[in-house]
Amino acid sequence: MSSFVIQGGARLEGEHTVQGAKNSALPILAAAVAARGECVLHGCPDLSDVRATLTILESLGCAVRRQGGALVVDSSCLCRCEIPERLMREMRSSIVFLGPLLSAMGCANLSAPGGCDIGERPIDLHLETMRALGVRVIEENGRLRCDARAGLRGARCSLHFPSVGATENLMIAASTAKGVTVLTNAAREPEIADLAAFLNACGAKIYGAGEGALVVEGVERLHGAEHTVIPDRITAVTFLTAAALTGGEILLRGARPSHMDAMLSVLEQSGCRLCRPGGDTLYLRMQGRPRRLPTIRTMPYPGFPTDAQALFMVLAALAEGASIITETIFENRFRHVAQLRRMGAFIRVEGRVAVVEGRRFLQGARVEACDLRAGAALVLAGLAAEGETRVRKIEHVDRGCEHFEGDLALLGANIVREEDDLGQEDEEA
Ligand code: UD1
Repeated sequence: MSSFVIQGGARLEGEHTVQGAKNSALPILAAAVAARGECVLHGCPDLSDVRATLTILESLGCAVRRQGGALVVDSSCLCRCEIPERLMREMRSSIVFLGPLLSAMGCANLSAPGGCDIGERPIDLHLETMRALGVRVIEENGRLRCDARAGLRGARCSLHFPSVGATENLMIAASTAKGVTVLTNAAREPEIADLAAFLNACGAKIYGAGEGALVVEGVERLHGAEHTVIPDRITAVTFLTAAALTGGEILLRGARPSHMDAMLSVLEQSGCRLCRPGGDTLYLRMQGRPRRLPTIRTMPYPGFPTDAQALFMVLAALAEGASIITETIFENRFRHVAQLRRMGAFIRVEGRVAVVEGRRFLQGARVEACDLRAGAALVLAGLAAEGETRVRKIEHVDRGCEHFEGDLALLGANIVREEDDLGQEDEEA
């Protein structure tokens, strides 16, 4: 295991280029299974979750190689429809292989991805939509045997909650189903539109992706294509918030500000000066202490994203006055609160609501990342705190933030990665 060791107090200043979106890259790589032929994908970030996805692709028989900065996936030798439990557990979003395998092979044998640190990760919506397309699903001892050898057929479906993963699985499977599929209350995240753009480049006929109701006209087969994933809106806002918390300034390049409206609005209302010069750049400058945050309620897109909740809690912890943050998407996504309290933050939690009384200072402390975004938030808290902060279990952060400490250091942060020695782990267990 590794830790980040941070000496807080340095003002961040400079330029940062936003990485490609993890949450686009993962479903698009999985969808490459359904596109018989070579897919060339640009902008996939180098992350442990992406590497885990590539391992699954290879285990299914796909050939994967790097070509310059691109990832090339060739699924013409796809020969298996089973993903071993070990690989399923390595990455929660492995369930997004369900639709691609059913489309390409007519069967998928997977294990349920299980719960995780931010709460249970049920897959009922994934299975409900697959059943609507004619898939026979047998759940046995934690394994899922899904059979569509009689053929996928288009259907009308509606999600009772706009699940991102369930929308992705349905779009991919419906692309090669017989007839037309209509999905209402579909997720509208930008990553959904990006996946649809990739599938359409492969020959699919998907209309309305990102708009809540989507129509998929099934085609005979998908072919290979070339695609560039969209910029990562969550890591983009991670760097903006890091600059804001240290009273710094940052020029982001390669961003897609229109995907970040809900988050940018909160940054502006908390006192950050934001300029959107147009195109793919964003400039932020912060002077003085953040103002009390407007009430935040995490919601499906275009609402405030749950993935940014922990980051903004750090801003609230240092802001003037009290801010209120309500988490509505995941039931257990306040685990960073206990860690932030160790740094002197004053946060009361009742159910899904956190009331954060801002403090003038946070104190460096030994804390532990409990999930990817919480880990990134603790790093930000460490950058703003007085003294030294050690963030343990940063493997969570490596799942989603590419070159995190290197990029922060380039902006002036005092942060290094250290391998934990076993004695230290025992001492802190
Ligand atoms: C995706 C993102 C994740 C983000 C989340 C919500 C990826 C790889 N991950 O996760 O970063 O936090 O969207 O924006 O894109 N649900 C059910 N039944 C289901 C599926 C989901 O009840 O079958 C519930 C979940 O428990 C959760 C909510 O729906 O409470 C949102 O889940 P979902 O939108 O599916 O998130 P993911 O696709 O897993």
